[in-house]
Amino acid sequence: MNAMDAEQLVSDKTHVNPFETGLHQGRIPSPCTLVIFGATGDLARKKLIPALYALSLEGQLPMPFHVIATGRSASDSTSYRDQMRENVIQYGRLPFNQEAWDNFARNVEYVTIDVVSDNGLQPLVEVLDDIDTNKGGHHNHVFYLSVPPSAMGPLSRRLKEAGLSTPRQGSFSRLVVEKPFGRNLETARELNSTLHEAFAEEQIYRIDHYLGKETVQNMMVFRFANGIFEPLWNRQYIDHVQITVTESIGIEGRGEYYEESGALRDMVQSHVMQLLAITAMEAPTNFRAETIRDEKVKLLRSVRPIHPDDALQHTVRGQYGRGWVNGQEVMGYREEHGVPKGSLRETFVAARVDIDNWRWEGTPFYLRSGKRLGKRVSEIAIQFRRVPHSPFVGNIASPFGTLPDSGIEPNLLVIRIQPEEGISLKFSAKVPVQSMEIRGVNMDFHYGSSFLRQSPEAYERLLLDAMLGDTTLFARVDEVEEAWRFCTAILDGWRSHPPVESQFPNYEAGTWGPKDADLLLQRDGRAWRRL
Ligand code: BG6
Repeated sequence: MNAMDAEQLVSDKTHVNPFETGLHQGRIPSPCTLVIFGATGDLARKKLIPALYALSLEGQLPMPFHVIATGRSASDSTSYRDQMRENVIQYGRLPFNQEAWDNFARNVEYVTIDVVSDNGLQPLVEVLDDIDTNKGGHHNHVFYLSVPPSAMGPLSRRLKEAGLSTPRQGSFSRLVVEKPFGRNLETARELNSTLHEAFAEEQIYRIDHYLGKETVQNMMVFRFANGIFEPLWNRQYIDHVQITVTESIGIEGRGEYYEESGALRDMVQSHVMQLLAITAMEAPTNFRAETIRDEKVKLLRSVRPIHPDDALQHTVRGQYGRGWVNGQEVMGYREEHGVPKGSLRETFVAARVDIDNWRWEGTPFYLRSGKRLGKRVSEIAIQFRRVPHSPFVGNIASPFGTLPDSGIEPNLLVIRIQPEEGISLKFSAKVPVQSMEIRGVNMDFHYGSSFLRQSPEAYERLLLDAMLGDTTLFARVDEVEEAWRFCTAILDGWRSHPPVESQFPNYEAGTWGPKDADLLLQRDGRAWRRL
């Protein structure tokens, strides 16, 4: 069944508005204007503009579609377009095509704004007005906040003052918010309530780009469109789960940001907690945005809180020192630009997470994420329990000869989010020799070879969804707050027990993190997967 058929089926069977189902692939949004705040920043240059260009190349953008790039610096549309052309050539997913770029870039304008002064958004209001009145913009606006957290509240207030947060009858006004979404539970709540002064929750789209990754979306299809895995997806059959999001890159010149943030805030609170929720949640009854988000929140609420006093027992923090990555010597975190020499900021985190519900009681989830590790890998590994009794163990005579002494390895299901996107299932097989030798083999699915097409970039999917009004792949206010509740308790515990300065760095760049991360699992009689 293709997505269009699926959509037809859903709307026939349940009278659900297909726009709300998340099964709307192939739809074109209504004419609209995307306003990017922070349009000269890294995200806009490397991700947003290349993603919009790819959507335009694939004919997925509405007609007409306008981009208003805004920033504080005094620039003009021509030089902005020229800069973005270079970025699209460098970072674009699809080959560059001058004619397609010209078509797209024609509707990209740069507007200088000043958020600090009272009427600072006036130039934007005027350009929007011109688009809406004379160029078929239909008063449909998507405001993308790619700005530091401290600028988000003031900007949303300014949008309200400028009359842009309330949509006209029959039009829409949406706010897309980039992470980091606060620094802890308290600041996230403050930010939420500031945004809610101007925009209703249904108008807010909180980006977690991991949710836009094809492989993460496929997790839901894998779990809920296949009958054979779900019956095994629980404490009875699963020994434990490992969620790994590792990177070989360092902080890429973002010393100041990272020093404020660290691995727990940067990766765990958002991406890793989302992966946890999708892996462990109950089956939703339909694919409506709110149904899925309800299930994720329910799961996040079942995550057993780690009391600050127990934080060091359930988590491990690390910081990289000098080392070798991909054959090159790289500097330690404390030597990076913008990082103080005695920094205690963590660039690695590992944690044991327990979920207090019937499905998962007694099945731990181990999470790890870090910079400058051996390899860039994001995966979810489901380690099944051993067979209850192995007839293959022991030195007994059998028609096959002497059976091996060793136990057989338990089944392992690995969902590879990136790179080498795919899924593999490890099971035991008999080695084709005269004796009974057993070895683990893999049944493998590779996106690349099965579908022979490139997956769209996460930002392509998410930008399109925001224009379509589909909130399924965006984090709702309560999801973000639940994830913060869990992470804030850990941060509180870490703050009360800071590492001593000589404790960091505690892992060499290019390795798999600090020794303590291994001990975290060894204590439970388990080990991290070797990647
Ligand atoms: C971002 C983090 O959200 O995700 C970065 O701020 C990190 O520190 C990035 O490098 C990883 O994203 P991806 O898609 O490359 O795994």
